[in-house]
Amino acid sequence: MVVACLVTFALLAPLAWLWWNSRLPSEYSVMDMGYADFGGGPGASASDGGHSAHQGVSIETLTVADDRPADVEYELVARQETFTLASGRSVDGYTLNGGSPGPTVHADEGDLVQVTLTNESVPDGATLHWHGVDVPNAMDGVAGVTQNAVMPGESFTYRFVADQVGTYWYHSHQVSHEQVIGGLFGGVVFDPVNASVGGADVDVTAMVHIYDGTRTVNGLEGDVPTEVASGAVVRVRVVNTDNGPMSVWTSGSPYRVLAVDGYDVNEPDVVDGAAITVTAGGRADLEIEVPASGARLELGGNTALLLGEGAASVSEEPAPREFVDLLSYGSPAPLGVDPDDADRQFEYVVDRRPGFLDGKPGLWWTVNGNLYPDVPMFTVSEGDVVTMRIENKSGDVHPMHLHGHHAVVLARNGDPATGSPWWVDSLNVVDGETYDIAFVADNPGVWLDHCHNLPHAAEGLLAHLGYTGYSTPYVIGGDNHNEPE
Ligand code: C2O
Ligand code: CU
Repeated sequence: MVVACLVTFALLAPLAWLWWNSRLPSEYSVMDMGYADFGGGPGASASDGGHSAHQGVSIETLTVADDRPADVEYELVARQETFTLASGRSVDGYTLNGGSPGPTVHADEGDLVQVTLTNESVPDGATLHWHGVDVPNAMDGVAGVTQNAVMPGESFTYRFVADQVGTYWYHSHQVSHEQVIGGLFGGVVFDPVNASVGGADVDVTAMVHIYDGTRTVNGLEGDVPTEVASGAVVRVRVVNTDNGPMSVWTSGSPYRVLAVDGYDVNEPDVVDGAAITVTAGGRADLEIEVPASGARLELGGNTALLLGEGAASVSEEPAPREFVDLLSYGSPAPLGVDPDDADRQFEYVVDRRPGFLDGKPGLWWTVNGNLYPDVPMFTVSEGDVVTMRIENKSGDVHPMHLHGHHAVVLARNGDPATGSPWWVDSLNVVDGETYDIAFVADNPGVWLDHCHNLPHAAEGLLAHLGYTGYSTPYVIGGDNHNEPE
């Protein structure tokens, strides 16, 4: 009996300890989370305690100058409510200015964009994150990392310069796995100043989103007629706001991939009979020259844009088996970053194993072998050239999203990139794949680097990128119940 008791205790005690230890405090800072990974570069000196040091410049200072007037202004009011999509379907979710998707934020290159978010009735609070826009850190919209959640009755003003051109989007980064799925998002389009050069005749933004299991484009379902004169050149900006990858292809006309994640493809080839995968959170700008018989842009297979005059009659072509491989698509051009001369080299290995997450037993995602919150703070200094190897051994696909920076793909499974420079903020990493990417650490602050299958992020599939000399005063939890994922 005594022996049996001792054996039981010996077996249960470590489990109980693991369970107890996994419980998250009611308030904690990402500055104390996990461990610092210096990627082979210089570490923090022993005297400042390294990673957990809260001294350093507050990220609150990382803004654009207050005295610069706005060129473009938006007021967005967030509500939790039951609303009607453009298709007539009623959805229980979240709106901006009464609808979902929210208004598209349009600006010209170089404009100072000012957006005021007012939370009228989202009980958990809300924020706006500018996905793919490399804003100053204090404008990144991550509750508990770059600001507090904006509670009902409160407002927050985002100000940043449209330094990039192309297609981006915004969404809440407070309880994002609920709020984004429920509709708290919208598009962002920044036009180049010389937009007339090589521009399209028609420019369409296609916000694709699954509400309650039904895929929609701009809130519409099924075949969505889009009036376009025959012979017109159309640019469709496809934004995947969902949690999984989406196949996109055309019927009745070939297409070209003009841009990926906002960044132009160099000398894009004509694609005929192949689909492009748009990863969760990612964007692809496609160019289609619409023939007299019309064309269809197939968005995942059950939703399409019908491009043409009147009711275009072109029929749907089945999903191609071939896919555009962005590793070899288009023509090479200088990268403007020398990955052979990297200052830091990181690994981001995604796997899963049994364990406890905040006291809950389960099969949880790991980052470099560790369960949340024991995840790395990839630590860089301003100006570093950084390489990262992302390896997926987890049995599932992960759309990996780095905030505040664009990275260029160097290789996949060891095969070097041979096409156009392929710049991403959201990268589809399939089980078994390894990607090598590079970026320049040119945007100081504390940034998320996570899976954009948002329920995965809420299950701890995330890490941070931090700059030496900066820290955030915000905390996860706390009075505003900040819960970024
Ligand atoms: Cu689209 Cu961390 O976000
Ligand atoms: Cu994932």
